[in-house]
Parts: sequence; C-alpha cells; structure tokens
Amino acid sequence: MKALRRPLIAGNWKLNKTVKEAVELVTLLKRLLADCQDVDVVVCPPFTALGEVSELLIESEIRLGAQDLYWEEKGAFTGEVSGSLLKDAGASFVIVGHSERRQFFHETHETVHKKTKAALKSGLVPIVCVGETLKEREADKTFEVLEAQIKGALTGLGREEVEGLAVAYEPVWAIGTGKVATPAQAEEAHVFIRTQILREFGEDVAAALRLLYGGSVKPDNTAELMREPDIDGALVGGASLEAQSFSAIVKNAAGAALK
Ligand code: 13P
Repeated sequence: MKALRRPLIAGNWKLNKTVKEAVELVTLLKRLLADCQDVDVVVCPPFTALGEVSELLIESEIRLGAQDLYWEEKGAFTGEVSGSLLKDAGASFVIVGHSERRQFFHETHETVHKKTKAALKSGLVPIVCVGETLKEREADKTFEVLEAQIKGALTGLGREEVEGLAVAYEPVWAIGTGKVATPAQAEEAHVFIRTQILREFGEDVAAALRLLYGGSVKPDNTAELMREPDIDGALVGGASLEAQSFSAIVKNAAGAALK
C-alpha cells in the first residue's frame, strides 16, 4: 500500500527568513536537490517571501506552500490572505491548523474546517495538522484528541476532496523540543488516523491519503520514521531552515521509501 503513495517532505519555515535569506536558502536547495526525483518537496516561507521564492522555483521540481490562509476570498478582512491570493503568488500547498495557530491564535475545529475547504476550493493542497499535547498524551487522550481534530477538519468534505489533501500528525510535545516520537508511537497514531479516514471516506481515500509526521524531524531520524508503513513524509520545522539538513532529510526519505 505504501508504495502507491509518493513521499512528501514539507519545510515549515514558521516566522523565519528575510526575503534575501529565503532566496539564499532556496538557491542552495535547488542545487542540492537537483537530481532527487522520488519525493515531492515543498517549502513554506513566510508570506513576505512567497513572490521571490516562487520566481526562483519556476524551473524547479520544488513546490511552494504557505503557512496559513483565510477562508474568505476577498473583502474587508485586514491582515488576511486568501487561497486565491496564495495561488496567485505561486503557492500550490498550504499548511492548515498548525498547533501553533491553534495554541496562539485560537484556531478551532470550525476555523480549521473552513480553511481546509477554502484551500481546496482555491486549488491548493491543504496540509491539515493534528496532534496531542503532552498533557493529553499523559492523560491517555491521544486518540480522543486526534479523532476530534480529524472530524472537525474533514467531516462534510467530499471523498475526492479528502483524497487530494495531506494530514500531518504533529504531537505538540515533539515540536521544537528535540524529543521526536518513536517510529512506533508515530506509526500508531498514523494507523489510527488512517482508520478514521477509512471509516468516514472509504478504503480508496484512506489508501491514497498522505500522512506526514512532524516534530523534531532531523536527517538522522528520517529514515527510521519513513520506513513505517503509514508514514508517507514529514513536516519539518527547525531542520528546514538550513539547506544541508533539509536536503539530507529529503534524500534520507527517498532512500527509505525505495526499500
Ligand atoms: P520542528 O521540526 O522544529 O520540531 O517543528 C515541527 C513543526 O512544527 C513543523 O510544522
């Protein structure tokens, strides 16, 4: 089943990189990943660098993503950016419902759902993020939390819509902490999520959906995570800010996927 899903490695730069720094990083990445064809690679710079990075990626296989969007198309929504504006800036992916947005910007199941729908409507591939906090894991609530987040984001969408998106499992306790989930912990959560998708949207959708793991992914833990049957890629934070480490993650993912 895994062989049918093309690995996807996305770099979430979060609130980092000036336009100049973004251009330097992507220029290096293009060189380092010039002959890496077995993996879909996405970079998600801050909004301010999308235009310049998009220009740089015109002749490249590396795709562009944004870190968030608003669900309205246009109008009096000061400070917001819509899916069609992201498309216009050259993006083809967008991260939705990252735990930092849920935690610091009060995103709810409802806003995550609206954003996912809006992204799909604009022709963007949403990378929908879910994941439990340490407190929730310790209280044995991981599956309960994941079920509510998956239902909140996806219930009501059509099968063909869900087939086209990616879900990132990012346990909050593993983000930026250096404390990566073990491959077994990540696989267990991925199997749970895929089973949820299967129940709601059927076998074909569940088999096609790409499930990424995120949380302290580094070059030296990528291969063992990627060897798990239900881990189809990674959403990388800190290690995506350096060309050497991000390209090493992509290459290690490609190597593991071929095995
Ligand atoms: P780190 O890779 O820095 O832990 O961040 C993960 C993340 O939040 C990606 O979206």
